[in-house]
Amino acid sequence: MTQDIVNVGILGCGAMGRELALAADSDRIPGARVTALFDIDENAIAALSADLSSSPDGYSDIDAFVAHPGVSLVVECASQAAAKAHAATVLKTGIALILMSSSAMTDPDVYAELMEAANSSGGKVIVPSGAIGGIDAIRAVEHLLESVTLTTTKLPRALTGAPGFAEWEGKEITEPTVIFDGPASDAVRLFPANVNVAATLSLAGIGPTETRVTVVADPDAPGNVHQIDASGSFGKFKFEFVNSPHPNNPKTSYLAALAAIESLRTYCDRGPRIGT
Ligand SMILES: NC(=O)c1ccc[n+]([C@@H]2O[C@H](COP(=O)([O-])OP(=O)(O)OC[C@H]3O[C@@H](n4cnc5c(N)ncnc54)[C@H](O)[C@@H]3O)[C@@H](O)[C@H]2O)c1
Repeated sequence: MTQDIVNVGILGCGAMGRELALAADSDRIPGARVTALFDIDENAIAALSADLSSSPDGYSDIDAFVAHPGVSLVVECASQAAAKAHAATVLKTGIALILMSSSAMTDPDVYAELMEAANSSGGKVIVPSGAIGGIDAIRAVEHLLESVTLTTTKLPRALTGAPGFAEWEGKEITEPTVIFDGPASDAVRLFPANVNVAATLSLAGIGPTETRVTVVADPDAPGNVHQIDASGSFGKFKFEFVNSPHPNNPKTSYLAALAAIESLRTYCDRGPRIGT
């Protein structure tokens, strides 16, 4: 039996979008074909398009992008701002959405808007595990969770540009230094490009107000390190991920791009689907 091909739109042609599109263009995801690209940066669209055999059309207008014939799935891998601005537009058309900038969904108004758009059109929002694992276990015990904490440790240069790092910009950090300690709801506002992990974890578990986040800048960090501690009447979990930064964007873990590819592959494959 031949496999149906899913026509995919990529919203954000940076490090992750490129990785995803190249995977879909190869035999790693045989069920997907990238037919439309969207970005605010025309050069990013042109550079990616030139490397794809599927000759996708490029767009800088979101309405034209979602109207591209045959697109049934959009992968957002742009930014929190792009997700807030465009995710509902995608979902209102009934197109499914894989959302990598999960931090956008910790805003209750955005969450409600996206779910209303999806419910009214039959669209669907998929938030991949991204730069961590264990989300399946957190979801399974969600109603029994009493505490969830995330400690994220990164090289100082991976935090530059974040509003929460403003007072540290240009200063030399010579030892592990706590930059932030507080609820995930504040962390995603102060570190929008760094703590999608906090967002995904809190969306799966006890929510952004109750999930505790510590951000550490460490000049000797072995990578982007995420440690998750969760406890409740089910027992205790401890997960640690020591991720290599993506070669084209040190703020992004390589695992996040690989997780996006796996989500796309799972969406386009017949299965079997292993794990929740
Ligand atoms: N879920 C996770 O665990 C996880 C992990 C790492 C990164 N991320 C997120 O995934 C997203 C992509 O990461 P990346 O490393 O590819 O980033 P990147 O900076 O390499 O690329 C982002 C691309 O999106 C484009 N873009 C940004 N804002 C846009 C907008 N408003 N409209 C259209 N295009 C826009 C940029 O021009 C760029 O080409 C980021 O939001 C990042 O925070 C999620």
